[in-house]
Amino acid sequence: MDKLIIEGGRALEGRVRISGAKNAALPILAASILTSETLCVENVPRLRDVSTMCGLLTQMGLWVRQAAPGALELSGHALSNPLAPYDLVKTMRASILVLGPLVARCGHARVSLPGGCAIGLRPVDLHIKGLQAMGAEIDIAHGYLHARAQRLKGTRIVLDLVTVTGTENLMMAAALAEGTTVIENAAREPEVIDLARCLNAMGAQVRGAGSDIITIEGVDKLHGARHAVMPDRIETATFLAAATMTGGRITLEGTSAGLLDAVLDKLREAGASIAANDAEITLEAQGRPRAVSIRTAPYPGFPTDMQAQFMALDAIADGTARVTETIFENRFMHAQELKRMGADVEVEGNTAVVRGIERLDGATVMATDLRASACLVLAGLVARGETVVDRIYHLDRGYEQLEAKLSALGARIRRAA
Ligand code: UD1
Repeated sequence: MDKLIIEGGRALEGRVRISGAKNAALPILAASILTSETLCVENVPRLRDVSTMCGLLTQMGLWVRQAAPGALELSGHALSNPLAPYDLVKTMRASILVLGPLVARCGHARVSLPGGCAIGLRPVDLHIKGLQAMGAEIDIAHGYLHARAQRLKGTRIVLDLVTVTGTENLMMAAALAEGTTVIENAAREPEVIDLARCLNAMGAQVRGAGSDIITIEGVDKLHGARHAVMPDRIETATFLAAATMTGGRITLEGTSAGLLDAVLDKLREAGASIAANDAEITLEAQGRPRAVSIRTAPYPGFPTDMQAQFMALDAIADGTARVTETIFENRFMHAQELKRMGADVEVEGNTAVVRGIERLDGATVMATDLRASACLVLAGLVARGETVVDRIYHLDRGYEQLEAKLSALGARIRRAA
């Protein structure tokens, strides 16, 4: 299994290009199920999760073709097998995103239940309840969800809690439903807006994405379209955190500061200077960061997908920080690994108290999920000596060429088998 070997202690300097957002690309690729025409998706990141989604679509009968680097053409004219098998779903929970579009387009779908994952229980009950409210009959047998509906019917859905993929699944299903669907307490994440833009380019009538009430007038048919995926705000924020921790000056191209207010505020509080325009963000930092307390929350709050990276920052910061996780119940597994590098972290329930120390020590550590892996890489960049981050297949799920991009910024990092 691949690992990353990092020699810590280099300030990051230079420019890198940010990739398209994984969490926007996945629902947008799933939206190709909704039409028999061709959807062209640009700025698609080359990631394991994207390949998994393409594999899932291909085995359903969709044609998926790489038209150019980062550009995929997906055609649903031959969709014949509305099934998401366990083998694929177990490697990527976001596979559940095919459920809504399949029922809407085919009238039935069999999708494996995702099961538990490293960061918590992550049920899909709200996806199911929403589709049932739209008239779908859903049974669970042998680990599979089996959903059926002649044609989904628009209705009012109030989500019990804010769910990103739940909102996206229901929005896609509602696009082809009969009548109007109103989703209340909808997720306001920018990726939901990007999906709405793509759906509207396909002929859907989605209004209000980005607010907590989304209204979808169902249409009979969607058509082909071309859409470029938004930049990855979590990749952007991960590089900015890395530069704040190591010191140095980096410029990130092809991304937007407007997506990251909560994170940028915290990086400034940590001591970084940040300048941004529509197309790039420049961050400069010197010396040890100041400790910053964070509390994760749905957008526009501080993203849970940046919690682990900020714990790495706080581990070497001047002062003591409280890191509170409110979205997932078991998302502190990186704390134990950071401790193996000498960090002073105490976890009590959903809060970690991190007392910053001058320097971490390089060690062999193991990643348990995608963002925890990123946390350990950042820790390695500032640690004394060599850090080996094992099990990096998680990183390959969500960061495009992380080690190449960090090397280009001057980090000493390499991949080994
Ligand atoms: C998405 C993101 C993930 C991010 C998360 C929170 C994608 C592909 N993934 O995941 O990177 O960390 O948002 O910002 O976009 N919940 C239920 N029942 C449901 C659905 C969710 O109880 O039916 C709970 C979850 O267990 C969790 C919370 O709701 O505690 C939020 O989860 P959700 O927003 O659904 O996360 P994902 O969409 O899976």
